[in-house]
Amino acid sequence: MNFDKLIKEVDRDNLPTHVGIIMDGNGRWAKARGLPRIEGHKEGLKALENILEFNRYLMIPYLTVYAFSKENWSRDKEEVEFLMSMAVKVINDKLEEFKEKGVRFLHLGDKLGISDELVSMIDKLEKETSEGKLYTLCVAFNYGGRDEIVYAVKRILDDFASGKISRESISNDIISSYIYHPEVPDVDLIIRTSGEQRISNFMLWRAAYSEFYFTSVLWPDFKPYHFIEAIKDYQSRERRFGKVVKR
Ligand code: IPE
Ligand code: IPE
Ligand code: MG
Repeated sequence: MNFDKLIKEVDRDNLPTHVGIIMDGNGRWAKARGLPRIEGHKEGLKALENILEFNRYLMIPYLTVYAFSKENWSRDKEEVEFLMSMAVKVINDKLEEFKEKGVRFLHLGDKLGISDELVSMIDKLEKETSEGKLYTLCVAFNYGGRDEIVYAVKRILDDFASGKISRESISNDIISSYIYHPEVPDVDLIIRTSGEQRISNFMLWRAAYSEFYFTSVLWPDFKPYHFIEAIKDYQSRERRFGKVVKR
């Protein structure tokens, strides 16, 4: 794949700062081939690796991928266990690579509910890649957008109780500073694969003015070429943020 040629198709001066991807359709990809769902997840991981490699050239500063939702616990035990073990394996495999390439990793989500082993690996990956200057990869894992708001509210209440903040000081900006990794900006573009057109509890707070791009491509089939299509579509839009734009 000639990444340089692909990248020439986008306006480098108008790249989104933060792109969120709802990587959906692994199960259907497998089903269409008569394979078990976990085969779809394996193939989905390859698609993700390809997109991450591509982003070393495209350079979207913040990429967030939705890997496991709070609601995904309700799937069959076998599938959930597979996804948890895949997370362990991915962290083991990627630690050195991310450090070498300068990819900073951040976890967005609830640590409660994930095994101690995985939590300590996540913490280690965050810590050891914290100096990464290339781009930031956020992985939404055991993540729920409403949970994220609940998390912020609880911490705000703690600081209120200890006198650190006043009722009057609560504002949008203050709430933004209490969500998971507040240094991650609002999301400019949300891509969802597999034809579903819903948010499924992703990024609720940071998505207030996101642009949405839906494609029927199943996640394991999603290629850098499709990513460029989404970015070009984003670049053709006029973001108004409630204003009247004078032409
Ligand atoms: C997305 O693919 C990956 C996860 C939710 C972990 P799905 O597993 O939801 O695939 P479909 O939607 O069943 O095809
Ligand atoms: C959203 O996909 C979660 C992830 C991609 C990790 P789902 O497949 O879980 O969402 P629904 O159930 O179709 O809304
Ligand atoms: Mg799905």
